[in-house]
Amino acid sequence: MKMWAGRMSGNVDDRLNELNRSIGFDSRMFEEDIRGSMAHAAMLGAVGVLKSEESEKIVEGLEGILQDLKDGSLAIDPEAEDIHMFVEQVLTQRLGDLGKKLHTGRSRNDQVALDVRLYLANQEEELLGLIRELCLCLCDLSQKHLGTVMPGYTHLQRAQPVTLAHQLMAYVQMLLRDSERISQARQRTMVSPLGSGALAGTTYPLDRHLVAEKLGLNGVTENSLDGVSDRDFVLELSADLSILMMHLSRMAEEIILWCSSEFGFMQLSDSFSTGSSIMPQKKNPDIAELIRGKTARVYGSHVTLLTMMKGLPLAYNKDMQEDKEAIFDALDTVKMCLSVLPPMWQSATFYPEKMRAAAAGGFINATDCADYLVRKGLPFRDAYKITGSLVALCIEKNLTLETLPLEEYKALCPRFDEDVYQAIDLQTCVSLRGVYGGPAREEVQKQIENARRKLQ
Ligand code: ARG
Repeated sequence: MKMWAGRMSGNVDDRLNELNRSIGFDSRMFEEDIRGSMAHAAMLGAVGVLKSEESEKIVEGLEGILQDLKDGSLAIDPEAEDIHMFVEQVLTQRLGDLGKKLHTGRSRNDQVALDVRLYLANQEEELLGLIRELCLCLCDLSQKHLGTVMPGYTHLQRAQPVTLAHQLMAYVQMLLRDSERISQARQRTMVSPLGSGALAGTTYPLDRHLVAEKLGLNGVTENSLDGVSDRDFVLELSADLSILMMHLSRMAEEIILWCSSEFGFMQLSDSFSTGSSIMPQKKNPDIAELIRGKTARVYGSHVTLLTMMKGLPLAYNKDMQEDKEAIFDALDTVKMCLSVLPPMWQSATFYPEKMRAAAAGGFINATDCADYLVRKGLPFRDAYKITGSLVALCIEKNLTLETLPLEEYKALCPRFDEDVYQAIDLQTCVSLRGVYGGPAREEVQKQIENARRKLQ
């Protein structure tokens, strides 16, 4: 018999139960559900809606259920409708009629909104820790590669010299913004909707602020209709997770490229590579590909949530039960991806000579050659044109700017001198890029230090 049997009698159809039931996925919020109920029950005692002995017994009973679920002596009933009903049922089995008083002044609508908020706030904290680990790993790696010159790309064409450290620290910037977004979302998540009731508040003199305080939340929701029907905090997180995955998938894509024979900049350790069932020579970056691939799945959850909420009239609608599977899947996926990346980076081998060779082969110092002429007094556009002709000449003669003889330089522009070779040396090209945020060693060192400071 359903706990809500009353108006309706008889048993509901099995097919309804199957569709209706959310215990299969909301049971992971059991701790949040019970802690929310403990705060609610304690408050009911404090304001005199329940006698203090009653309130204390309920809190104790809930504490017992929590312990039993944690140590495995109590199993979740897969036939229960949802985690809220399950906990209340067990409480009533254990305390008798007193258990039935827990739900005074509360609805599952405000209860589930609270549970999801508490659960996501905890998950957000976990995410911040994982992002931090990845950032620290990238900072450490960058520290080792401040002088590892590699080509920077635009349009995936060699463009200008950077260093591996500079490239990796770009990802740290993205991840720091992800962190910021998630912690801001967390602040908005940490408010209590309890007291909103089903939609129109309650006639009991509840102390909503006391509940929020007991749960360590920042405050309470301001409107009961909004309190039960708002899922912005879920959407904000799924949006933040989507952006984060977009960053991880770009990182994954670079790992995949760099591991190819065409680039040869790095190799993943055997423990983070897979083989092929037919080609014996293969060592595949499957993990990076999966990170790239799973990004689609996280975007999918975000679109599910947006679409699920679209056009819902106020206030609670059962459609909103769908929020959990979507955000839980996104969270599980992102956490898995975040945790595999640090050991994957740490155990990889890098090939600085290959990076340098790629940097030397692509005329990526052409801008520096033009800048050299600017320093010798030429307007940039003229310098640009002359350098373009030099590059064409090198291609024709199968040479590079480094190997082109000085006479050829001078023939195109008499302002060229022996010191041009120093100016176009890759190391010089990088170290002259000392603008704030640039790839010069001291600048990247600053980036690392600033990032580490933020991560403290
Ligand atoms: N399992 C439901 C959910 O996840 C709990 C709220 C049910 N409320 C209701 N009015 N049927 O949204």
